[in-house]
Amino acid sequence: MIIRKITAFEREAVKEFYLALSADDRRKRFCCLLSDETISRYVEGLDFMQHSVLGAFNEHGQLIGLAELAPGAKEGELAFSVRPDMRCRRIGTRLMERILLYARMSGVGKVFVMFLSENMPMRRLAQSAGMTVKMDGAEAYASQELPAPSADEVSRWFLQEAVAHGEYFTVLGIERWGSLVTQPRPTAPKFLSAPNALAV
Ligand SMILES: CC(C)(COP(=O)(O)OP(=O)(O)OC[C@H]1O[C@@H](n2cnc3c(N)ncnc32)[C@H](O)[C@@H]1OP(=O)(O)O)[C@@H](O)C(=O)NCCC(=O)NCCS
Repeated sequence: MIIRKITAFEREAVKEFYLALSADDRRKRFCCLLSDETISRYVEGLDFMQHSVLGAFNEHGQLIGLAELAPGAKEGELAFSVRPDMRCRRIGTRLMERILLYARMSGVGKVFVMFLSENMPMRRLAQSAGMTVKMDGAEAYASQELPAPSADEVSRWFLQEAVAHGEYFTVLGIERWGSLVTQPRPTAPKFLSAPNALAV
């Protein structure tokens, strides 16, 4: 799996990812049921200079998970979504680790996540990351103070990010070339039968 920052040029892929979610998954991700139009407006309104999005990709370069960091005046808000067929494989955990490090690198002092109290996977994800979870009726709030990163952590971030982008473009290349070599072999062009033609 590859985890890397999403660029503004991948807005459509983010939109498609969210639009493919079921009504229940949309409710879990956004804490309310959103229509296609509202989701589209949400993604179109994302300012990638302010709002950081990490994507998890499979070996075919397909988007299988998203983690978002929305900056606030004092705290950054996190949100997560993993493609339903890819859940329970620690993708959420890896997205959480990576976005927490990114938030620390960006100077964010505290992060929080809002989710539905019934959302056990999100609760466990938050608790495993060391967040304090508070339940308030149907909604839950998890938060964590973030220390500044060490020099080692900063270099690890940049190294992993560079490797992830390199891997991603390698995957895209393999997918493209794979699609070409699995095509049926073209029939031999006419000029290959030239020896026969010469013999005549
Ligand atoms: C929350 C979510 C992102 C977790 O992604 P994931 O890749 O399945 O998570 P992981 O496999 O890393 O598991 C994280 C933790 O949840 C637990 N978990 C996963 N699925 C679970 C389930 N169905 N029931 C109970 N716990 C579950 C795991 O055991 C793990 O706990 P641990 O760290 O104590 O071992 C995913 O379930 C999802 O996309 N949900 C819909 C969107 C959402 O709820 N977003 C949260 C609000 S922003």
